[in-house]
Amino acid sequence: MNLQVRKAIKSDKQAISDVVIAAFGEVEGQEIADLVTDLLADPSAQPVLSLVMTADDSVIGHILFTNVQIKHSQRIISASILAPLAVQPEYQNQGIGGRLVREGLKQLKTAGVELVFVLGHPGYYPKHGFSPAGIKKFEAPYPISPENSDAWMVQELQPGVIGHVCGQVICADELNDQKYWRE
Ligand SMILES: CC(C)(COP(=O)(O)OP(=O)(O)OC[C@H]1O[C@@H](n2cnc3c(N)ncnc32)[C@H](O)[C@@H]1OP(=O)(O)O)[C@@H](O)C(=O)NCCC(=O)NCCS
Repeated sequence: MNLQVRKAIKSDKQAISDVVIAAFGEVEGQEIADLVTDLLADPSAQPVLSLVMTADDSVIGHILFTNVQIKHSQRIISASILAPLAVQPEYQNQGIGGRLVREGLKQLKTAGVELVFVLGHPGYYPKHGFSPAGIKKFEAPYPISPENSDAWMVQELQPGVIGHVCGQVICADELNDQKYWRE
């Protein structure tokens, strides 16, 4: 099997939706597949980084990073948020999600992105360098309940940002809906 990570192209749209629906299930998956489509067309999400993992040219995984801003930050910061990440169920637990995360972070770092946020499972993302963001004084766009505060995470891709910058994260318009912020 020939596994490759590459930037998503327009003609991947249906294959990405299929992977997202398979990974998240029919009901939630359709909503998240629509979110991916909407974010890719959302000017406030730019720049985006949309990567697919292919196995013998079929899309089996997808990751999306979209631009965020930090309200009232001490200086202009280049920052992104990871959402969503999906791997076709029969390919899960084989390191594919991890490869997509690592490749995405590498490309963002090269592009000069300083901070990356994620709202996700606190058992998964710390393996890829994320740690709780609230304690570092980064507020999510909507309040995260105290019992789930560890799910709101950040990592810096350039040294010396965390500790010198803080504030509320403002995400792209299409992601700025409370329904996406219940963890
Ligand atoms: C979460 C997901 C992207 C991980 O991708 P993957 O290719 O299966 O993950 P990897 O093989 O890189 O990593 C596997 C590890 O992640 C853990 N893991 C998988 N899904 C997890 C989840 N939802 N929550 C916490 N940990 C999870 C596995 O237990 C395994 O742990 P181990 O390394 O200690 O054995 C994939 O399972 C998926 O698409 N799930 C459904 C959609 C989803 O929940 N997306 C994430 C929210 S945006």
